Amino acid sequence: MGYKNEKLIEEKVFKDPVHRYIHVRDKVIWDVIGTREFQRLRRIKQLGTTYLVFHGAEHSRFHHSLGVYEIVRRIIDDGFSGRPEWDGEERLVTLCAALLHDLGHGPFSHAFEKVFDLDHEEFTQAIILGDTEVNQILRRVSAEFPQKVSDVIGKTYPDKLVVSLISSQIDADRMDYLQRDAYFTGVSYGHFDMERILRVMRPSEDQAVVKSTGMHAVEDYIMSRYQMYWQVYFHPVSRSAEVILTKILHRAKYLYETGYTFKQVPSHFQTFFDRTFELEDYISLDEGIMTTYFQMWTKEPDWILSDLSMRFLNRRLFQYVEFNPADEYKKLRKLEKLFKKANVDPEYYLVVDSSSDLPYDFYRPGEENERLPIFLRMPNGELSEISRSSDIVDAISGKRRTDHKLYYPEDLLEEGKGDNPLYLQILQLLKN
Ligand code: NI
Repeated sequence: MGYKNEKLIEEKVFKDPVHRYIHVRDKVIWDVIGTREFQRLRRIKQLGTTYLVFHGAEHSRFHHSLGVYEIVRRIIDDGFSGRPEWDGEERLVTLCAALLHDLGHGPFSHAFEKVFDLDHEEFTQAIILGDTEVNQILRRVSAEFPQKVSDVIGKTYPDKLVVSLISSQIDADRMDYLQRDAYFTGVSYGHFDMERILRVMRPSEDQAVVKSTGMHAVEDYIMSRYQMYWQVYFHPVSRSAEVILTKILHRAKYLYETGYTFKQVPSHFQTFFDRTFELEDYISLDEGIMTTYFQMWTKEPDWILSDLSMRFLNRRLFQYVEFNPADEYKKLRKLEKLFKKANVDPEYYLVVDSSSDLPYDFYRPGEENERLPIFLRMPNGELSEISRSSDIVDAISGKRRTDHKLYYPEDLLEEGKGDNPLYLQILQLLKN
């Protein structure tokens, strides 16, 4: 029978607040979940700094990864299995890719990747292919199996239908995180009828498609994604926390590079500062370690490092105003000068942050970010791109929305404005 098809004698289930249960019958899946690299995802939050706004958002990447696996398992086992367009041989590689698609996320991914110029997807592939427990399990299936799983995640796998289940505009990844993040943040956006979508999803040659009778459920899904981005993912206050987090790491890196003597040597980050890190250095990081450093850094003599660390831990976040990059750069330059004069380093305390999202797009060949559109299977069997049938999807198709904010420490300026008239001038300029 072989390891590939080995089943557990008794099915294992994980109780899940979103999908009720996550079902595991395959021995390979069970073994992968038990590896140290996968268990590490329990110590990395799914939504980074969002818990500082929506306090329920403490769920981890472990939850989400199991959820994506479960959705893909249901699509394959309940929907695709036995249909001529679906190759049953692809089942295990698809399930493993679903389970492992976020394996390389680091602690507070976005800030960490930005400061150290890293890419979590590359780490996902490196962990799957490297000297790791996950790799050992996958290799037991076959020598080429780890590479196959990695190719699905890297979107270079030859079977495009398999890739589309994990990354497309209607994939298991999005379907899980929208519902999960809605559940844990407690917002009423993000809900849609996934049961209906799974019921009408069909395999086709290059991607999963949806029967035309499922169009309204898909419209609802696209709208809920659109709303989650602006209500939750791009919330200006969690972006403020993200800005501070990024600046803490910038400051620590700068101090390290300029020979500052840390009271608490950042040994976990040294190889990242030097860019000599190995895979194991990355795997051994988690959010607990990061916040431990922030705690210790509140006691550092360097005022900026200690102030920013205190702000992050105690949620003394930056205030923000709208910023229009088209005609406000002069104002920004002027503010930077005033900040310097007032001895508040604008590098760390005056930050423009931009968020941008394209809720849905049809295929535009040759353009950057080519996206796989969502196709409906019409009653005559033909495929039709959804915005041609749905006025709601058509209304938001291809429309990118971008938002810019300028962040600054209002509390510091307010408290000091009696002693420092420059602070008052800065506050006035910021607010008009
Ligand atoms: Ni994901």
